Amino acid sequence: MLEEKIEKIKEDALAEIAAVESLAELNDLRIKFLGRKSEFTNILKSLKDLTEQERKIVGQIANATKIEVESVLAAKEKELKEKSFDFAAEKIDVTMPAKKLQRGHLHPLTKIQNELEDIFTSMGFEIADGPEVETEFYNFDALNIPKNHPARDKWDTFWLKNNKQQTTDDLPTGQAGKQQERILLRTHTSPVQIRFMQTHTPPFRIIAPGKCFRNEATDATHEHSFYQFEALMVGDDVNVGNFKFIAQEFFSKFFKKEINVRLRPSYFPFTEPSFEFDISCTVCGGEGCPSCKGGGWLEVGGAGMVNQAVFEAAGYPRGKYQGFAWGFGLERLLMMRNKINDIRLFHSGDKRFTDQF
Ligand code: DAH
Repeated sequence: MLEEKIEKIKEDALAEIAAVESLAELNDLRIKFLGRKSEFTNILKSLKDLTEQERKIVGQIANATKIEVESVLAAKEKELKEKSFDFAAEKIDVTMPAKKLQRGHLHPLTKIQNELEDIFTSMGFEIADGPEVETEFYNFDALNIPKNHPARDKWDTFWLKNNKQQTTDDLPTGQAGKQQERILLRTHTSPVQIRFMQTHTPPFRIIAPGKCFRNEATDATHEHSFYQFEALMVGDDVNVGNFKFIAQEFFSKFFKKEINVRLRPSYFPFTEPSFEFDISCTVCGGEGCPSCKGGGWLEVGGAGMVNQAVFEAAGYPRGKYQGFAWGFGLERLLMMRNKINDIRLFHSGDKRFTDQF
């Protein structure tokens, strides 16, 4: 009788499933008892040969059996899976430190430039800009450094090939008629002075930070590419006292301590009189220590009262205005504040260096 056969299959299946110990064996049993070639499937296929009444009864039993075996299979599968789960391997150590996120950050030179801009804008200065590829006129002639003048030797220059045939319109004021303007990589930020004055009328105060280039061998204090910072304040009666005050204010804010400024006579073609300016040693405050080699002062940059020839080159009448200008290297300033001993580190691309800022 089919009912008995089904009952037997069920008993065998349940017994064998209960004894199984691995998922693979369980899968074999599923095929054995319910698979396409199993005795059970054959019985289901033969139902069509029964009378309708018989088919109804046997069909119901077969269905109930299938559901029961399937549910026992599922329960066993769950049990085996849980047993084989390797908790040790899946353990999460919540006390383990997280992997450190590598975040990018601004280059130390960009940071110091932002800092300087903040200090100067808080003192009413505007920020001016100029091109890194300059003409000979802006970089030299207009700054009172004429062609063939020995003063040009102070700036070792990268001259560029100028393939552009210039029209008279391209040439700066007062240069009309010349056919080919020589171009170069600016050797200092001072050309921005001229560019700004050509389009503005005093009074004004500006700063112009930017990249400069010199055709010279590099060592611990010299780079072929570096940053400078120009300041220019022009009005009817701007004087050296104004310069000294603003310089002192700026350096005190930058070094976060009281700083004194000292002027020494010097020479720059674009200023008259010209100074080198020093600041009181940021380590000892001026008493003398190894940082300042005992002298109490640190050399910072050049400055002076704008030469009237420069005003004239920018289009202002001679003798109408007075102003001061100063310029210094950004790297040098950061080297002083952060005790960095080699300027070449800034462009070395060495993350061990930049990550310290
Ligand atoms: N341009 C000068 C240089 O690169 C630095 C300098 C000196 C700028 C005196 C000035 C200044 O504005 O007044 O060597």
